[in-house]
Amino acid sequence: MCGTSALAWAEGLSKYHGRKGCVFCVDVWDRWSGLEFQEGQIVARDTVLQVAYDIFSYNIKVARLDDIIFPIIGDSRTALDALRDGYFDIIYIDGHHGYEYVLSDIRNAKRLISDGGIICGDDLEKQVGEVDNIALKAQKDQIAGSDPLSGSPYHPGVTLAVFEEFGTINPFIGLWAVRKAGTEFDSVDLEVLPRVIPSWFPSERVEQARQLLENAVIEQSPGVCSSKGALWRSRSWMAAFAVKKMYYLLRGR
Ligand SMILES: C[S@@+](CC[C@H](N)C(=O)[O-])C[C@H]1O[C@@H](n2cnc3c(N)ncnc32)[C@H](O)[C@@H]1O
Repeated sequence: MCGTSALAWAEGLSKYHGRKGCVFCVDVWDRWSGLEFQEGQIVARDTVLQVAYDIFSYNIKVARLDDIIFPIIGDSRTALDALRDGYFDIIYIDGHHGYEYVLSDIRNAKRLISDGGIICGDDLEKQVGEVDNIALKAQKDQIAGSDPLSGSPYHPGVTLAVFEEFGTINPFIGLWAVRKAGTEFDSVDLEVLPRVIPSWFPSERVEQARQLLENAVIEQSPGVCSSKGALWRSRSWMAAFAVKKMYYLLRGR
């Protein structure tokens, strides 16, 4: 939306992969009034971003990564049709979190990913075996839900679609990843890989991120714009630490 995930991947590409390659970002860049969690409750976020694409463009320019980031404006259920099979080394899924959308994104990703490449995504806080299955199915089309067993908020659409396509895997703080090996997909153990907080990460959130990621390396410099805080509340910074992990996994390719 505002480019935080895009910047994370592009910075990773730049630093750990000699700036070889590019990042395609598919988003509707439309009105988006998301939901957020506050003290265990789901509340509607009152910020409706109408300038998301402008913020995205500004951010990638300020970070000097606009030469390797390419936006594709459209609904991922159809926009991904235009992309070439087996072309991508990493596909990060963090679009609409409703079941039908996540399922479509994963199925498209399976077609688009290269052999040895990684499909990953955000917001897999709970897996099917850990939640009430009746509530899971009832809430699967919502952007976010709440598990009656634990009382915890999570994303039922992500939980169900990832399970149906990959089975039980090994997420780390909501981030999940699998690696294509021939016709199979192997779960990636994210926990053992190095962690980096990227240069543009907001300083007021660094300490929180460090605690969550334990011993993450910080590379800081200011510059990226947010919109009324919505940018950082989206948790899309999670992608940031994934970057080094992913390029570490793909090293030598
Ligand atoms: C949780 S946000 C994450 C955005 C991005 N990963 C980031 O970190 O900035 C979900 C995004 O999905 C986009 N979105 C919603 N429905 C979509 C669809 N059908 N196709 C493509 N993008 C969609 C929204 O516009 C929003 O930017």
